[in-house]
Amino acid sequence: MSEWWRDAVFYQVYVRSFADSDGDGVGDLPGITAKLDYLRELAVDAIWLTPFYPSPQADHGYDVADYVGVEPLFGTLDDFDELIASAHARDIRVVVDIVPNHSSSQHPWFTGPDRERRYVTVGGDDLPNNWPSNWGGPAWTYDDERGHWFLHLFAPEQPDLDWNRQLVRNDFREILRFWLDRGVDGFRIDVAHGLVKKASLENEPEPFPTNRFSSDWRTAIDQPEVHDVYRDWRRLIDEYDGDRVFVGEVVFSDQRRVAPYLRTDELHLAFNFSLVFQPWDADAIRESIGESLRELPIVTWVFENHDVTRIVTRFGGERQARAAALLLLALPGPAFMYQGQELGLEEVDLPDDVRQDPIFLRTEGQRKGRDGCRVPIPWTRELQANAWLPQPASWSEKSVAAQTGRDGSFLELYRAALSLRPSGSFAWRESQPGTLAFDRDELTCIVHFGDERMVDGEVVLASDADQTAVWVRR
Ligand code: GLC
Repeated sequence: MSEWWRDAVFYQVYVRSFADSDGDGVGDLPGITAKLDYLRELAVDAIWLTPFYPSPQADHGYDVADYVGVEPLFGTLDDFDELIASAHARDIRVVVDIVPNHSSSQHPWFTGPDRERRYVTVGGDDLPNNWPSNWGGPAWTYDDERGHWFLHLFAPEQPDLDWNRQLVRNDFREILRFWLDRGVDGFRIDVAHGLVKKASLENEPEPFPTNRFSSDWRTAIDQPEVHDVYRDWRRLIDEYDGDRVFVGEVVFSDQRRVAPYLRTDELHLAFNFSLVFQPWDADAIRESIGESLRELPIVTWVFENHDVTRIVTRFGGERQARAAALLLLALPGPAFMYQGQELGLEEVDLPDDVRQDPIFLRTEGQRKGRDGCRVPIPWTRELQANAWLPQPASWSEKSVAAQTGRDGSFLELYRAALSLRPSGSFAWRESQPGTLAFDRDELTCIVHFGDERMVDGEVVLASDADQTAVWVRR
């Protein structure tokens, strides 16, 4: 088995904001197919498509109303088949998003007579327990018509399925098979640590965890039975040829809680979010990398995705984000990058009246939410007037057209880094304070967080003229 995913670079396509083929302001599947040559030239190994299934779009697709179809806004099943075939023809694998923790409240499972056989519902007058929604307020909503509370760890439009029920497990086996039969190379599993809740529905213990990524909760997520689900899924996917892969969104601040999901008969990969929460600081980043490598059998590196602030903004500028590119692509193991990261796009400070994220809407603007990293990709200097979120005028010069072939552009830096990406074993090097350095085979990656420089050897690639980060041949 090739286990291609062990050191693959995955490129996340946020379907709504990638490429719009029909000019309605929203990206779509044919738009992605038309950009596969761009992705092949970038030299990524695989793409991850965010949910493109029929959905009322209360959470832009993470509220699925039909798990085995395509949202008309994004295209048709034929468009999907064509996308897969065209990607495979270019040696690009395709991973799709599966959203098993919750469906849309418009799913027939929820609107039909069978709701109580599939969802977490509770009768009675009082709130069933102290669980909060990730996005503000309690995780329970009372349905007057049905006379019960239903659980939603996210928005009320996203009721949680009850994974203690065999019926739910059977449904998802069929859904996995449907997409595997269509040729997908794997699945990114949304909220993978959340499916099974403690059956007693007991309170989260005090002191109540305040972490808004729910990562430290104890009863609403991460129950031992969730591992039965992934062992079952693993057996199922192993029946298929072609070395297909599961990537879990497993969010814990303690890496030791992630490791069990990566046992050899469970998920192949799980995102490592610890770098997402670090400041641009040598000690913090070294500690995060070191801990991840110590605690996990395989580390899947991530700096950006559709849920977090873009690194140009988070790390304080383009210089840092360019250096982060060399760091990300030198680390051992699989790496994920998010569309637009290769263009150096910054978080967009959008006016409130265009924001659409349920986090913004549900917290009445107290939390700005994630729209700022979801602004559609600028392909040409002429920006798209009707893009579903407005592109800043400065993005004309950040467009793919403007950066292609431009010496020193972000895009050319990523292209060079992807083509020179090192492999082999990993070893830290001694380095002065404010600097981080490690070896991969014959290359050394050095990142300078302050003004001091320690570059010794032939520079193969530099993130900028100041050599903030370099790859050096020994
Ligand atoms: C995951 C997704 C996020 C979504 C949430 C609920 O965290 O990445 O975008 O809103 O799950 O499905």
